[in-house]
Amino acid sequence: MSRAAHEKPRVSARDFAHDGIAFGCDYNPEQWDPAIWTEDVELMRTAGVDLVAINIFGWSQINPGLGVFDFSALDTVIELLHAGGIRINLGTATSSPPPWLTTLHPEILPVTDDGTTRFPGGRQAWCPSSPVFRRYALALVEQVAERYGAHPAVELWHVSNELGCHNALCYCAESATAFRRWLENRYGSIDELNRAWGTSFWSQRYSAWDEILPPLQTLSSRNPGQMLDFHRFSSDELLDYYRSEAAVIRRFSEVAITTNFMVTSHIRNLDYWSWAPEVDIVANDHYLDHRLEEPTAELAFAADFTRGLAGGAPWLLMETATSAVNWQPHNIAKTPGELTRNALAHVARGADGICFFQWRASAQGSEKFHSALVPHAGTDSAVWREVVELGGLIERLGEVAGSRVVAEAAVVFSWDAWWAGDGENRPSHSVAYLDQVHAAYNALHDLGITVDIVPPDADLSAYKLVVLPGLHLVTDADAAGIESYVAGGGHVLITFYSGIVDEDDRVRLGGYPGAFRDLLGIRVEEFAPLLPGQSIGLASGASARLWTERLQATSAEVLDSFADGPAAGIPAVTRNAHGSGSAWYVATMLEDGAYRNLLADVARSAGVARHPGGEDVDIVRRVGDTGSHLFVINHTADDLELQATGEEIVTGASVTGTLLVPGGSVRIVRESTTTQEGTA
Ligand code: GAL
Repeated sequence: MSRAAHEKPRVSARDFAHDGIAFGCDYNPEQWDPAIWTEDVELMRTAGVDLVAINIFGWSQINPGLGVFDFSALDTVIELLHAGGIRINLGTATSSPPPWLTTLHPEILPVTDDGTTRFPGGRQAWCPSSPVFRRYALALVEQVAERYGAHPAVELWHVSNELGCHNALCYCAESATAFRRWLENRYGSIDELNRAWGTSFWSQRYSAWDEILPPLQTLSSRNPGQMLDFHRFSSDELLDYYRSEAAVIRRFSEVAITTNFMVTSHIRNLDYWSWAPEVDIVANDHYLDHRLEEPTAELAFAADFTRGLAGGAPWLLMETATSAVNWQPHNIAKTPGELTRNALAHVARGADGICFFQWRASAQGSEKFHSALVPHAGTDSAVWREVVELGGLIERLGEVAGSRVVAEAAVVFSWDAWWAGDGENRPSHSVAYLDQVHAAYNALHDLGITVDIVPPDADLSAYKLVVLPGLHLVTDADAAGIESYVAGGGHVLITFYSGIVDEDDRVRLGGYPGAFRDLLGIRVEEFAPLLPGQSIGLASGASARLWTERLQATSAEVLDSFADGPAAGIPAVTRNAHGSGSAWYVATMLEDGAYRNLLADVARSAGVARHPGGEDVDIVRRVGDTGSHLFVINHTADDLELQATGEEIVTGASVTGTLLVPGGSVRIVRESTTTQEGTA
C-alpha cells in the first residue's frame, strides 16, 4: 500500500450484529412490477431469508437526472422488508453511473491499455481516479446515508459492488496523474523510481514525473517494474475510493460497512491483504468456476482464503449462485443437493452468512439466464424447494455463528508475487501463480488437512507446516520472517520459482532462489522449463511436468531426482534441516498423486493432523465458546462413515461413536467430545 493510503485514518469500525447465521440475497425490485413486492417479502419469510441487499444498481432509479432524486420506490421496499422482519444490507448505488452522468461527463469513462475508451451500456463504466465521478458518487452516498443511516432495518452497508471487477485498471489521463502522485509518494525522487524500475534497460530513464505514463500497450513487452507498481497503485486507488464512501456513510450511520470482495479464480487486480483491515466484516462473492479442473476444491480454497483475509474471524458469503451462472462459456446447473453442499462448505470454513445473487431470476438484461432463489419456473421448482430447506437448516445452525476454524497448516499467498511472477516475459507461460497455489492447496485438501491462507508477513508461529507455492517475489523482511519461523522449529515446503526477485522485481543474484538459498540448502544455476504436454520421470517413479532446473544441493538432503528431461540426474526434491525446523523444496510440478504423497510426508514429519475422507469430502471443525461443530460434506455418491459423538443437526439424531454421511449429504455434529476423529 502506498504511504498516502496509510496516512489516511481508517473509518471507525462497527461490529456486524446479526442473530445467528445470515441467509440472504441481492434483491433488485426495480426490475419488477411493484405488485409483486409484497409477495416477494412473504416468500422471503417462507425461505427464511433474513438479510437482503438492495439498491446495489439503484443509481438511475433514485437519481434519474442531474439534481433529481426520487426515493419513493426505495422507501416502499425498505418499509416492506422492515415490516417483514428482514434486515437490510443497503447498497450505496454507486456501482454503475446512469447514462445522464456519462453523457454529461464522458471524461469519467474508463480507458483500457490500448488507449481506447470503454463506453456505457454495461456496468462499472467509470475511472477509479476520476474526481468528477467521485464527486457525483459521494453526493449520492450522502443522500442515501442521510436518509436511511438511522433506519432500524439497516444492518449493514454495501459500498458499491465488487469494486474493480471490470474497471480496476484504467489508463486515462486522470489515472496517469494519480499514478504519478502515487509514485512520488512511494519513491520521493525520480532517481529512486529509475532505480526501482531498472530504467537503464532499453533507454527508459525518466527525467521528470510528467514523462511517466500508465503501462499502456507498447510494441514490445513493457517495463515489469512499471507494471507491478501500476497494479499496486490501482489496488490502492480503489481502496481509497472505498474509504471515501465509507467516510460519508459513517457520518450518518452506526452500523457495519463493507463491500463484496471477489476471491475467485480469475480476479487478480486487488490486493485484499491491504483492503481487509478497512472493512468492518470481510464479505466475499464466490461462484463455482467450471473452467477449472476442480471447481469444488477451488470453493474450499476461496472460503479458506476469505477466512484468512478476515484474520480467522467469521465472514460473509455475500453472493453465490443457487445453480448456474450466465458468464462462463458453459454454465453448468447444480445437481440436486449441490447448492446445499456448496453453501455449507462456506459455513464450515467460517462464513456466518450465506447470501445469493439474486432473489428473482431477471426476465431481462444480460443476466437473465443466471440462477436465483426464485427461478423463472417459479416456486414449483427443485431449486426453490432446496432453497427453503437450506434456509431452515441455516436457521438451526445459529449456534455456530461466531465460532472459528482451527488450522495447523498454512499456505502463503501474495498479490505482489502473483503480479510479478505472471509478468509478460517469463521463463514459461505455462507456469502460472494461481495454478501453483491451487495445486498446493488441492493436495493439502485431498489429504484432509485444514489450511489457513496467510500473507507473507504473517506470524507463522502457530502453524506446524507452511507451504509457499511459487512465491516469486518476496521482500527481505518477509524472507527473514520465514527463515526465523523455520529456525524456531517450523516446517516449510517451498516450490519452484519462489524467492527469485525482491520487491522491485529485481533478481536476487548468486543463484536461485536467492531469498531462500541458505534456508533450503540448495543453489540453482539455471531454469530448464518443459514444453506443454511434456512429462518427465523422477527416480522415485513419480512423474512431473512444466518445470525442471539445474539445482545443486549445498547442505540439503536429496529426496528425489530427475530421471530424464533437461535436468536428468539433478535433484528434484530436497529437505534441509535448519535450526530446529526443516525446509523442503520441490523443483518441478509433480503430478497430483506424487504431489499429495510428498505433502503427506512433509505433513507427517511436521506432525500435522489429517481428517479421513479423501479428495471429495470436506471435514472441518469450527470451535467457539459454546463448543465445537464438526462439518462433514460428502461430495461423492458413496456413503461415508467416521468417528464422532454428539448431536447431529441436519437429521436431529444422536451420534454415539460412528457418524454415517450418505453420498451427496452434509452432516454437522455438535460434538460432546472432540476426539480427533479418524486421524490418519
Ligand atoms: C457478481 C455481481 C452480481 C452479479 C453476479 C452474477 O459479479 O456482483 O451483480 O453480476 O456476479 O454471477
